[in-house]
Amino acid sequence: MCGIIGFTGSGNALEVLIRGLRRLEYRGYDSAGLALLTRDGISVVKRVGSVEALEREVSSLAGTESSVGIAHTRWATHGGVTDRNAHPHTSCDGRVAIVHNGIIENHEELRAELIARGHRFTSETDSEVIAHLLEEELRARPGDPRGALTSVVRKLRGSFAFVAVSTWTGDAILAARHNSPLVVGVGKDFSIPASDVLSFLEWTDDAIFLENESCAVIRPGRVESWLFTGEELELKVTKVAIEVSEVDKRGYVHHTLKEIHDQRFTVTRTLTEELGPLGEAAKLLREARRILLVAAGTSYHAALVGRYVLAELADLDVQPVLASEYNLVSRWVNGDSVLVAISQSGETADVLEAVRDAKQKGAKVIGIVNMPGSSLERLSDVHINIRAGPEIGVAATKSFTSQVVALIRLASAVSGKEVPLDPEELGAGVEQVLEQEPQIAEIASILKDSKDVYLIGRGVHYPIALEGALKVKELAYVHAEGLPAGELKHGTLALIESGTPVIVLNPSDDTHTDTLSNCQELKARGARLIGISDRHHSVYDFFVRIPRTGSKYASVLLEVIPLQLLAYYMALERGAEIDKPRNLAKSVTVK
Ligand code: G6P
Repeated sequence: MCGIIGFTGSGNALEVLIRGLRRLEYRGYDSAGLALLTRDGISVVKRVGSVEALEREVSSLAGTESSVGIAHTRWATHGGVTDRNAHPHTSCDGRVAIVHNGIIENHEELRAELIARGHRFTSETDSEVIAHLLEEELRARPGDPRGALTSVVRKLRGSFAFVAVSTWTGDAILAARHNSPLVVGVGKDFSIPASDVLSFLEWTDDAIFLENESCAVIRPGRVESWLFTGEELELKVTKVAIEVSEVDKRGYVHHTLKEIHDQRFTVTRTLTEELGPLGEAAKLLREARRILLVAAGTSYHAALVGRYVLAELADLDVQPVLASEYNLVSRWVNGDSVLVAISQSGETADVLEAVRDAKQKGAKVIGIVNMPGSSLERLSDVHINIRAGPEIGVAATKSFTSQVVALIRLASAVSGKEVPLDPEELGAGVEQVLEQEPQIAEIASILKDSKDVYLIGRGVHYPIALEGALKVKELAYVHAEGLPAGELKHGTLALIESGTPVIVLNPSDDTHTDTLSNCQELKARGARLIGISDRHHSVYDFFVRIPRTGSKYASVLLEVIPLQLLAYYMALERGAEIDKPRNLAKSVTVK
């Protein structure tokens, strides 16, 4: 949802900004742009399209000497996808340039006031007001960037992280954040403010996570920061424990395929290694009177699995809640509640809003996150890191299986019983499923032109059907629907015609026999059945075998992998842009 980056220091700003932007592209990719501060003023290049396209365009700036600049990759919210709406935005006099992530809710009001004071706007975005406001304030007090910045942020409502350069402030980058992420990578003689740590890992693993509702003046190797209230902040440098190589494709054509394959080791890593204070989290759950699992997208599907896992393994009655629908349940949240917030990025705006609301009401928050240092991690009373490693493909894959494993470990910590997963068996199981990639690719080529694909599963397999459908939709752009197998006959069966593909999640556990009956009902109406199970049956037209493990939860983890591969190969056959599906963004930092 928009990625921002800046550079100030000794070195070539242009090169750092472009390389950093490439790493940020997963956050938004409809337009990109950058601004460099040079001896002659600010040079801006921006355009619709990818960072690659921007890179070709900025070749004209290659000779420009600049060691200070900012850049942006956009996912449009306000204003269409046009060159003019791409960031950076500049003030009327061209002396200020800004890039912004978030939404300025009172932009119309501010724009009207600024126009009345003589400002001219060139874009339809909400963001442009920041450039004009900064221009006014810096002009009024050129020697006081702190005062100027504080005055601007106090006028803004909504969510924002922005960085700005100006001809008044030289090598200082001005920055502020309110409910959108901003972190600064610092080296000896440079600083790189950015939306996430992945973008600057190449240059430094020393990071300063800026506080929410704070401003900063960022100079080479040095950052000063204060709250909107004016209170000075003491900054802490954190070492980021991610290797640069983990962010690369490592020979795979797509990040998504690499991340599906990473599950070879990520699933067992989450199962066997230290994730954080599980015991403390378990205690909170045991003592709670109300437990909500709050998440969005794929993480919400993990929450749905979590409901079964916590009920079956720990006898806990928990309620999964879509973060964007949290308002309804907010009225019952109080000091006796625990909110388990699940988020790969730890930056999803709806999740963070629910967390802030719950905290304000005295509830405790357990964060289940993947990105170290994320806002969710820092807001949580207890945080569990699923340790899936950086996930770049917009469609979540390895983070899902690791979230599920973390929830199983959490449930076992509550019950005090052994985790019902065997690392060796699970690791071997993932290998065996991945070995079937060629057969799965073949099924994908048969399904690729389907108008609709249905997926069914019972009990804990139902959320997997939902997750499989989401993968098919977001990667292959084919309509797909996940259903509880028992619900088919209450409506959707009417849509089944000769040849309609239905994927059936049916391992041999307590759900097996009933789901098999539903297969017969589907078969009788001409459906083409793709069975995913450890037990073959003649009712299936196609079959993907998952190994028999004796653990229902191992089946859950293993059966989702063929679905990820199926969606991937359908997308490949259809020529879809796999790592960055159209209209989507990995980290949704606006509501
Ligand atoms: C976006 C992504 C999804 C993801 C969801 C929640 O919609 O495209 O893949 O599942 O956000 O993200 P989170 O980081 O909170 O898990």
